[in-house]
Amino acid sequence: MDREMTNADLKLTRDTGLGTSSSPSLPQDVCQGPTWHQFVLKLACTGFILLALTIIGLRVSVIFLKQKSSTEKSSVDVQEKRNETTEKSSLLKCPMNWYPFQERCLFFSHTNNPWSDSLAHCFTQESSLLLIQNQEELVLISNLTDNSLLFWIGLKFILPEKKWKWINGSFLNSNILQITGETKENSCAYLSSAKVVSEYCETENNWICQKELKSIRNKGCPDS
Ligand SMILES: *[C@@H]1O[C@H](CO)[C@@H](O)[C@H](O)[C@H]1NC(C)=O
Ligand SMILES: *[C@@H]1O[C@H](CO)[C@@H](O)[C@H](O)[C@H]1NC(C)=O
Ligand SMILES: *[C@@H]1O[C@H](CO)[C@@H](O)[C@H](O)[C@H]1NC(C)=O
Repeated sequence: MDREMTNADLKLTRDTGLGTSSSPSLPQDVCQGPTWHQFVLKLACTGFILLALTIIGLRVSVIFLKQKSSTEKSSVDVQEKRNETTEKSSLLKCPMNWYPFQERCLFFSHTNNPWSDSLAHCFTQESSLLLIQNQEELVLISNLTDNSLLFWIGLKFILPEKKWKWINGSFLNSNILQITGETKENSCAYLSSAKVVSEYCETENNWICQKELKSIRNKGCPDS
């Protein structure tokens, strides 16, 4: 052990360029003297060295344990993050050919149908015809469409109330959304160029379906 320390010291002094040829090792100097004296001193030295080694050993194992627990913890963190992102991406994923819009997925048809067939198509896709909250949303959604096309939405003029009614059962609040065009029996609403327009329901138009992102996660909707 003494030799090791001396070697280390020599190496150190050589590396730093400060050393001389004489050994600077302190324990060796202290452990010299008359024979019995030397023996006691050697014993004390050995005890001291053992104590020092024990302390070093304990410190090393504490450091090791700390590192181990922190790597374990971080691998748990990574796992949790991965679970989180998996959930999020399945939560936010719209089926193929559906466009994410706020909390919804929207489908813009490429074919034409009367209003009732459009309604039925959305129903088979576990969705409904588009519902619009306000003017701002109307503009945003209209901006996603080809303005030369007319898209049926989930709004119909009903009798005997003679009122516009959303397919979710609520009546239209005409302060929030204005209907353009003549309103009469058997009228349905389409969206085009940021306007909601009244039109005979048997007319064949494109249409927009919507579904909540939430329900996609719960039901695992099929791609369409
Ligand atoms: C992550 O998900 C897997 C399987 O879905 C599960 O076994 C594991 O316990 C989850 N981990 C955490 C940290 O939630
Ligand atoms: C139905 O949809 C309209 C338009 O988006 C909305 O204003 C109304 O609050 C909805 N009604 C219900 C009961 O969800
Ligand atoms: C419509 O979309 C275009 C890009 O496609 C964007 O530059 C523009 O600001 C949008 N307009 C509105 C009113 O959202």
